[in-house]
Amino acid sequence: MLRLAVLGSGKGSNFQAILDAIDSGRLTAQVVCVISDVADAFILERARRRGIPAHFVDCSPFKTKLDGEGERKVLSILDDYGADTIALAGFMRIIKAGLLNRYPMRILNIHPSLLPAFPGLQAWKQALEYGVKITGCTVHFVDSGMDTGPIILQRSVPVLENDTPEALHARIQREEHIAYPEALQLLSQNRLRIEGRRVRIL
Ligand code: GRF
Repeated sequence: MLRLAVLGSGKGSNFQAILDAIDSGRLTAQVVCVISDVADAFILERARRRGIPAHFVDCSPFKTKLDGEGERKVLSILDDYGADTIALAGFMRIIKAGLLNRYPMRILNIHPSLLPAFPGLQAWKQALEYGVKITGCTVHFVDSGMDTGPIILQRSVPVLENDTPEALHARIQREEHIAYPEALQLLSQNRLRIEGRRVRIL
């Protein structure tokens, strides 16, 4: 069973989907802790309500990466709870070598587009502005790039004629909540094999 740490900066709907999947037996995992770089992020509140250890880590002076003292604190919390897998769920920082080297191919991320299209921020808005007719979400292993690691699962959604950024993001999130627990369960069952950029599902 996975000993999962969830890192997030926001509302934590993907974290909630992971909890729901565990409750319903679709995911064999225990969430051992939740860590946020935002003191009042709702993801921490969700964890507390469930009795899951919830930690805020001040990651300043860095704004967009997890490095230095913040990274050291995160590593020590992960050690304390014996986490073996990390799920980034709306964690708005680039992961650096300290964490990557300690958890090789054990850090996953969910991104709101069909990568490699639209990496980076507000991918649903990028997709809408670009004019694509199909977008979606991607679960991938995390490497040192931004949204560049080997892809585990993708789910697509249509872009509708009168879409707003909010409506499109909500449609993508419904698929995220299916894809993320599924990908984690494949990892939990040891059914993922990484061959170069390709992830084979056994
Ligand atoms: C999701 O859209 C995810 O793809 C992106 O950040 C958002 C997090 O949402 N990485 P939530 O906090 O899980 O609701």
